[in-house]
Amino acid sequence: MEDLRLDSLEGVGPVTTRKLSDAGIHNIMDLIVRGPVEIAEVTGMDKETAEKIVGKARQQLIEEGLIVKDFVSATEIYKRRQDIGKITTGTNCLDTLFDGGIETQALTEVYGEFGCGKTQFCHTMCIMVQKSKEEGGLSGGALYIDTEGTFRPERIVSIAKANDMDPEKILENIMVARAYNSAHQTLILEEAGTVIKENNIKLIIVDSAVGLFRAEYLGRGTLSVRQQKLNHFVHLLVRIAEIYNCAALATNQVMASPDVFFGDPTRPVGGNVVAHTSTYRIYFKKSGKKRIARMVDSPHHPEMDVVFALSDAGVIDPEEDGKKKKKTTTTKTTTESVDSENPDPTEPNSE
Ligand SMILES: Nc1ncnc2c1ncn2[C@@H]1O[C@H](COP(=O)(O)OP(=O)(O)OP(=O)(O)O)[C@@H](O)[C@H]1O
Ligand SMILES: [Mg+2]
Repeated sequence: MEDLRLDSLEGVGPVTTRKLSDAGIHNIMDLIVRGPVEIAEVTGMDKETAEKIVGKARQQLIEEGLIVKDFVSATEIYKRRQDIGKITTGTNCLDTLFDGGIETQALTEVYGEFGCGKTQFCHTMCIMVQKSKEEGGLSGGALYIDTEGTFRPERIVSIAKANDMDPEKILENIMVARAYNSAHQTLILEEAGTVIKENNIKLIIVDSAVGLFRAEYLGRGTLSVRQQKLNHFVHLLVRIAEIYNCAALATNQVMASPDVFFGDPTRPVGGNVVAHTSTYRIYFKKSGKKRIARMVDSPHHPEMDVVFALSDAGVIDPEEDGKKKKKTTTTKTTTESVDSENPDPTEPNSE
């Protein structure tokens, strides 16, 4: 990846390189991810120059076989899709739903109400991505963008142990970025390229993708600004997933929406922006102690429901529930109705 240095591009000298790196664009991949319009905006260079630079970057990456040409044969697309990796969920039920696991070069959106297990699923996937290819992982690291302050290393340790993996090594391969506001959340992603390469990141998690945007842009008047910013963020996520051959996993909370008279009265908070960019959308629903996962939107999966459960081992197959609990000798009990991270379940759901 050394040869992706900005100054290896013809016509890009030290001044331009500095301008770009000041704006968080550190290599040729970053140029492609951000695109000419945004590059012109953040560096102050004129649009033609930005287009020229991005055009050259594209050419170089095509020559090196890192990205595909604008017009490609179906054979080439087929080949590129052969590179798609899948990360097992560690459960039979969810692997069936995902047809093997969550995919790289795609965005998987998990949505559902508070306490349905979105964050637990994210934690579990941080361990699964580190498994070897033979075991269903990608031998890669995870990048966890935590917007709600709900990342818990203790859960990682517990899930790693349940999978007979060394917790210390597992923790070492998870990079965590705590985002404090939506602009910060976007900035983290814009600057993630280097971290992704240096740590062989194969899974990028954003938990939650929409929460901060929603909290900051309240009311109808700011809705379009919010959607525009969210749109930018989600597209960035998709481009990064495609370019770096990573899986992107984003969570989204649902709200009760009184304006919906038919179908499920809950819908994802991000509205259409997220819906149109996610490649896969999964709906998690509480069902007593168990959870139901439904594949809602997929270009090639059948719509179906599966049942899973939550435990010390993360997300598990429902029949394993008793088994795994016996294995762990703790006396901890989990209550379904009380969610420590959401003391007031009515609060986060109002728009
Ligand atoms: N060690 C554990 N064993 C069993 N269940 C657990 C364990 N840890 C957490 N849970 C369960 O996970 C649920 C919380 O899930 P999670 O935090 O993933 O929800 P969420 O969908 O992320 O919610 P929110 O929208 O509030 O972020 C709770 O019902 C809790 O009981
Ligand atoms: Mg959560």
